[in-house]
Amino acid sequence: MTATDERTDLDAALAEARESYVAQRPVGARMHAEASEVMPGGNTRTVLYHPPFPLRMARGAAQRVVDVDGHEYVDLLGEYTAGLYGHSQQPILDAVRAALGDGISLAGHNVYEARLARALVDRFPAFDLVRFTNSGTEANLMAISLARVVTGRPGIAVMRSGYHGGLLYFGGGGSPVNAPYDAIVLDYNDVEGARAAIREHAGRLAAVVVEPVLGSGGVIPATRDFLHALREESQAHGVLLILDEVMTSRLSPRGAAPLFGVTPDLLTVGKYLGGGLSFGRADLMARFDPSQPGALPHAGTFNNNVLSMAAGLAGLTQVLDDDRLDTLNARGNRLREALQAVMAPYGWTATGMGSMVGFHPVPGPVNSPADIAGADDRRRELLFLDLLERGWYVAPRGFIALSIEVTDDDIDGFVAAVADALATRS
Ligand SMILES: Cc1ncc(COP(=O)(O)O)c(C=O)c1O
Repeated sequence: MTATDERTDLDAALAEARESYVAQRPVGARMHAEASEVMPGGNTRTVLYHPPFPLRMARGAAQRVVDVDGHEYVDLLGEYTAGLYGHSQQPILDAVRAALGDGISLAGHNVYEARLARALVDRFPAFDLVRFTNSGTEANLMAISLARVVTGRPGIAVMRSGYHGGLLYFGGGGSPVNAPYDAIVLDYNDVEGARAAIREHAGRLAAVVVEPVLGSGGVIPATRDFLHALREESQAHGVLLILDEVMTSRLSPRGAAPLFGVTPDLLTVGKYLGGGLSFGRADLMARFDPSQPGALPHAGTFNNNVLSMAAGLAGLTQVLDDDRLDTLNARGNRLREALQAVMAPYGWTATGMGSMVGFHPVPGPVNSPADIAGADDRRRELLFLDLLERGWYVAPRGFIALSIEVTDDDIDGFVAAVADALATRS
């Protein structure tokens, strides 16, 4: 078969898969058209868009979700890591209902926030002080702004393809809607390049910001050497290290940092833990103490919102324990190995760490975003649609974040579905 034949075959297969998707979702199509009358492209969260029109979910229970046309899927996407608990943990539902019953806009400190902060500090022992935010984006903006104040320097060093929120994305030359920080961009896992750049630009750098596993950028783990190099160079030059664990805090009971043996100056987490929050060295975070003269302001009507605080606390203290997280991450490792075995013959590579799994239509190995730059997005989309057809929900870009509701049988069923989908199209 020539390259042109292959291209035509792929385009034809994709067109047919899209047609079938549309034909099976009349309610979804109608609702998308209605949404498009009042929201740009019917969308208010970019990552959820995919052609021909995005899935619209009606409900979820345990590890399953059902779309508005009544199709049921096993949910392996896990809300891009935020859905760690699955869809129906009773203690979390009870906590939210109880909080609702007491009123949710009370214009005061509430009974949950300090308890959640205590549970978090106990869980991530490197830090003593926490500030809550509404999202991971806000947590990172706040950590970066704090670093700029305490160092008196304007700039940040970030990773190519790093993602720290809607205003902090550094793929493809950087997002045009990024917050206007002076940013230098390092190549992920390039130890010598990063060392040299930090040394050269240290005078203008407030912080190095890095994900221990590049999440949106391809589910690519850092090497231990790379994170240690960032830690050493930043420390040597008075630059703060901000570790963005908004996705990776799930990778062990204490987050990813101890797995790499690195302690940052500021740590940001979010999603299933209660929206967003910044942790940090006590001397840094104390700058926000409003009882002190000259304290830094950190406002936000919903920073301590009752429902997130109550849900985060119930999840952390009543649902999650070390065994459950360890089991979840071991299951993720098993999934990645099994996927690699069935996908490699078709020119795909599985990536990730623990319960975060990626898969890419390239032969590998994948150690940096450059290794997946040439991937054919049509192959990603076709596999996504073929898996939906078989009742499995993953991210269109090839991303899985397991919830604690996903079972070993689900993993086996999914790997068989992937093998079947790839064999059918080859
Ligand atoms: C590593 C990382 N940091 C920050 C964010 C932003 O979090 P949020 O969507 O809550 O603003 C995300 C979201 O996916 C993320 O993956």
